[in-house]
Amino acid sequence: MVESSIQPQGWGRFSANVRPKWASYVCSMVIVLQFLMQSAEADPVLGTSRGYCRPVTIANNKTQDCCLPEPKRPPIPFKLPTNPIMRVRRPAHELAQDVEYVNKYNLAYTRMKALPDDDPRSFLRQWHTHCSFCVEAFLSRYLNGTATPYPLQLHFSWTFLPWHRMLIYFHERILGSLIDDPEFALPFWNWDNQLDPTAGQVPQIFLPYPAGSAFNNPFLHEGKVRNTNHLPPKVLPLDYNAIDEAAGVVNTPEEIKDANLCMVWNMVYNKVSAQEFLGGKYNTSANLGAQGNVTVGESGGAESLHNTAHEWVGMMNNAQFPDNEDMGVFTYAGRDPIFYSHHANVDRLWDVWQTLPDKVTEDGTRTRKEFDDVDFLETEFTFYDENQDMVRVKVKDTLSSEKLGYTYQDMSAADRLWIDHKPQTSRPSFRTTQMAYSPNDYPEVVLNANNTIGSTPVCFKLARRPPNRDDLKGTQVKHIGELSEGLLIEKVMVPEMMYVRFDVYVDFPTANMESDVDKSDYVGSFTHLPSGVTSMKDVTAQVPVADEDLFRELNIRFSIGTALRRIGIKDYSTDITVTVVPKFRPGDENKTITFANLKQEFC
Ligand code: C2O
Repeated sequence: MVESSIQPQGWGRFSANVRPKWASYVCSMVIVLQFLMQSAEADPVLGTSRGYCRPVTIANNKTQDCCLPEPKRPPIPFKLPTNPIMRVRRPAHELAQDVEYVNKYNLAYTRMKALPDDDPRSFLRQWHTHCSFCVEAFLSRYLNGTATPYPLQLHFSWTFLPWHRMLIYFHERILGSLIDDPEFALPFWNWDNQLDPTAGQVPQIFLPYPAGSAFNNPFLHEGKVRNTNHLPPKVLPLDYNAIDEAAGVVNTPEEIKDANLCMVWNMVYNKVSAQEFLGGKYNTSANLGAQGNVTVGESGGAESLHNTAHEWVGMMNNAQFPDNEDMGVFTYAGRDPIFYSHHANVDRLWDVWQTLPDKVTEDGTRTRKEFDDVDFLETEFTFYDENQDMVRVKVKDTLSSEKLGYTYQDMSAADRLWIDHKPQTSRPSFRTTQMAYSPNDYPEVVLNANNTIGSTPVCFKLARRPPNRDDLKGTQVKHIGELSEGLLIEKVMVPEMMYVRFDVYVDFPTANMESDVDKSDYVGSFTHLPSGVTSMKDVTAQVPVADEDLFRELNIRFSIGTALRRIGIKDYSTDITVTVVPKFRPGDENKTITFANLKQEFC
C-alpha cells in the first residue's frame, strides 16, 4: 500500500457542494503543485518495520534476527490522547521500597514476558523493536512508501530523542494495559542526580529483592548480563574511564559527583541549539562510500552522554562477552529492563532542556527551540501499541510530553546542581601561567589528511574569527549575538565495532588521560558504543563486508563559548589550541581513528 504523508491543507472551509467549480480546479492544481513541490524538497525519514528486514550483525560475523511480525490490521495514524490521563514517572531510587509500585512493576513485566512471541507487545518484541530500528534491520522509505536503498538508523541524528521517546511511550502503555492500570508509569533512572547518592547506582528495582521480603520478585533481568563490578554502592561515573578502572584507579565520591555535574552541564545545559542537543539532520541519502561501508551522522549531547550509562551497565571489557551484552550494545540493550528507565531519564532531560535559560551565548536571550524543519516534523516511525495495532507516529506529535499524557516527578532541586554547576577553577588557565605558550606552536589540522585521534593526546591550533551574518544561515536565530560558538570535528571515522571515547579541552595543550574533567577548559566528551552496521554492499549486492571495514563517519560538535569566557578569552580573534584526549578501552590503547577537519563553527 502506498501511503503518502502529505495531506492536502484547507479543505475544511468549503463543503463540496458549495465550492464553485473554478475554485475546485484551482484548488486541485494547488494541491497537485504543493504535493510535487513538497515531494521534491521534503525529505523526512520514514521508518517502518514493514517489508524488507534483515538480521542485524554483531561482532565476529554473527547475526541476530530482530525482525518484527507483520501487523494483523492495517496501520493506523497516531492520535494524541484526548483528555490525557497524567502518568507520573517517578525516580527509580525513590520507588525502591514502595512495595505496591514494585509489585505492580514486576507483575506487568511478568505478564509481558508471558505473551507469545508473535505478539508485538511481548518483551521479546519490545527488545526487538529497539534492536531492529536502531541496528539497521530495515530500510528507510520515500514519501510514496517505497523502500530506499538506505538502512534505517535512529541513532546518530535528530531522530534519537523523538524515536526513543515513543518507544518507551508505547512500552509504558503496554505494561499499564497488562495490569489494567491506565496510570501506570515507568520509573526513571535518575543518574544525573548528584543530590541523592543512591540515584546514580543501578537502582534496586532492577535487582533481586531479598527472599522472603514483601516484594514479589519474579521478574529477573532476561539475559542477566550486567557488569557485576558496577553494582551498588558504585555510582555511575559519567566520565567513566575503563583503562583507569582496569588499572585500579579509584575516584572518591566527591570527585565522581563533581565530574558528573560538569559532564551534564556540558552535554545538556551548554547545548543551547537543537542541533547541539538533539543531533544533526538525518541524512536520508548518505553517500555510503565506494565500498558501501560508511554511514554518516551527528549525535547530539543527549545521545553522547547517554552512551556512557549503556557502556557502564553492560558487560563491557570482558572477554567472555565480546558483544558487551546487554546494555553495552544496542542489539541487546532492550533485553535489560533498566534500558527503558535509562531512556526515561534521557527523555526527562529533554523536557528539562526545553526550559533552560540561555547563559551560553553572548546575548544570553536565546530560547531553546526544537527544530522547525519540515524534514524533522514530518519524520515518521511505526510502533505497536497496547492493542497490537501498528501506529504511524510523526515527530511533530512527539515534542510535548504533556500532550502525550505523561510527566516527570519534579526533580528541580537535583537538576539545579548541574544547571548551576561551575567547574573548579583551582587550576589557573594554561595561558595565564605559561608565559611561553602560543597556539602558533601547534599544528593546524590539514584538511582531509589522515588526522588521527588515539594512543596519545593530540593538540591542534584552532584559528578563530568573529561570527557574521552568513553564520546565521541554517540556524534558528536571527541575531549574531545569539549564535553558539562551537568546535566541529568533521568526518571522524569510527570503526563500527570499536568502543571509542575521547575528551576535549580548549587551551590546555598538556591535557591527558589523568586530567580532571571538572575544569573550565574541558568542553565535553564523545562516546561510541560498538554496534553492528549494515553495509550497502550487503544490502544491494549481497557482498558481505568484514566488520573491520565498516565505519560510521560522524561529525562531532562541542560548545566552547562559555569555556573560553571562563578561562579569560573574551574576544573572537584569539586563536586557541584544542586537545583531544583518547580514552579507549583496555587493549585498544594503541588504536587510532582518523578525522578530516577540526574547525570553529557557529550554530
Ligand atoms: Cu537506542 Cu540508549 O539506545
